[in-house]
Amino acid sequence: MRLYKWIFVLVLFIPAGVLVGQLFQGELGANPSEKINLVLGDWTYYFLASNLIWGALLAVGWMPNRLRRFTLLRRHLGVVTFVYAFLHMTFYVLKEGDVPLALTQMVEKLYLILGLISLLILFALALTSNNYSVRKLGSRWKSLHRLAYVVLPLATVHYFLIEKKDWRVTIPWLIVWMALSGVRVFKLVKKR
Ligand code: HEM
Repeated sequence: MRLYKWIFVLVLFIPAGVLVGQLFQGELGANPSEKINLVLGDWTYYFLASNLIWGALLAVGWMPNRLRRFTLLRRHLGVVTFVYAFLHMTFYVLKEGDVPLALTQMVEKLYLILGLISLLILFALALTSNNYSVRKLGSRWKSLHRLAYVVLPLATVHYFLIEKKDWRVTIPWLIVWMALSGVRVFKLVKKR
């Protein structure tokens, strides 16, 4: 992997590193697992949304040529997003402190079911984010990776089903992505 890819991945792990630092400094309050679960949930959402917005900018032709050569970094961003989502879920289980109870809730509570579906989709996408899978799956690779479009709305509902949430975490990202997707569809229809 080229140096800039390593740097990119390292930068993406800064929020996780900050959390580790805060944990060792005892700055995460009485229930560190709960705090870590929440912060990782936010970052999972930001990474997911950034990747989709990046893709939409490419699709509508609004990505400057100089930046187009970094397109492959989207795959790294996708894999890191999955890692954050997985850790987010892990800290939910730790926060509950009872694995059977946490697992039961995951198939009973709607917001957790939606989170789990999102995580499973991200897992499938992360597993196939390599050159071998791109070659092997051919045109099916694109169809599979279009599943990412489903994850952002699912994750948004997951977020809003948790009461008293701050809309600023999700809505601005969602609006930008939906507006760009609208332009994309408009351009496609016009072309035909
Ligand atoms: C793509 C997948 C996911 C995304 C983008 C996501 C995103 C989020 C976000 C943004 C929050 C709010 C954090 C805050 O209040 O600052 C959250 C909360 C939470 N998520 Fe997820 N999540 C995902 C998957 C999951 C999974 C798989 C689980 C567990 C099965 C889960 C369990 C939780 C829990 C327990 C909370 C905290 C609820 C509370 O405040 O009581 N999430 N998630």
